[in-house]
Amino acid sequence: MLHYLFYLYLLTTTFLTTLIETIKIDHAGHQNDPHAQVREVLAYDKAFKAVIDFADSTEVETIIVSTSDHETGGASVALQVGESYPEYLWKPDVLLNATKSGEYVTRKLASYKASSKKDLYQFIKTEILEKDLGIHDYTEQDVLNIVAPGANPHNILNKLVSDRALIGWSTHGHSAVDVNIYGYSNTENGKSLLYKYLGGNRENTEIGRFWEAITGSDYNKITGLLEGTVHHTVSAQSLDGDAATELLGGFNEHDTLDPEYATFKAQVAEFGEHVEQLS
Ligand SMILES: *[C@@H]1O[C@H](CO)[C@@H](O)[C@H](O)[C@H]1NC(C)=O
Repeated sequence: MLHYLFYLYLLTTTFLTTLIETIKIDHAGHQNDPHAQVREVLAYDKAFKAVIDFADSTEVETIIVSTSDHETGGASVALQVGESYPEYLWKPDVLLNATKSGEYVTRKLASYKASSKKDLYQFIKTEILEKDLGIHDYTEQDVLNIVAPGANPHNILNKLVSDRALIGWSTHGHSAVDVNIYGYSNTENGKSLLYKYLGGNRENTEIGRFWEAITGSDYNKITGLLEGTVHHTVSAQSLDGDAATELLGGFNEHDTLDPEYATFKAQVAEFGEHVEQLS
């Protein structure tokens, strides 16, 4: 992809800008899924490294900014479990042991057609907790909680991992926690621009203003052109009725409009009904 970008650059005479997003960092935050989130962050690190390597390999002045528009989930390490004063630690090994995301295992659980409750409990223990999440110290009650009437298995499975890793969450939404800004350039000029415009504590609008300053573009004008543009990744056929209006209304689009998410929720609800019928 980066070779392609460079080629595009050569075809243009002024500036080429590109945006790379790892969207599941945010989704995993919404879901309070620590093991999916950390793997997404590691994948993002690799992408960032590839972009830095690209900058170092070209003579063309390249400026890189890495940041987020907000934190999601209010994740924090050093969770206090119980009344006693906490130990000052967290356990990344627990996250390494979990090899499938909470969403993946919940889909797997919801699509399992158990022949009996006993069969279902066994499936949860060996296939989900042990094999996919790497949890071996679960209790019988943990298994019962996952399939209790009205339970949200997705949240429970993620919490089993979070608690063991000593990771706490404060919300399923966005938080007001400050996010980092990382900058890199292959020129001294680029580095000093980054330092001048983005060093220290900044409002997130200043990141847009930075690009405006270095590219000589007019962000108010560009914002005007973008207003009303539907920018979420949804299939065209789901954009009927009031969907477009709703899309712009908040993060609930994951639940209400993303076709996959709707299917996911329906699948989990059906699974609940299936469990109640098991003997
Ligand atoms: C990780 O999984 C292994 C077995 O595969 C287990 O022995 C170990 O205790 C687990 N580690 C943690 C931190 O859960």
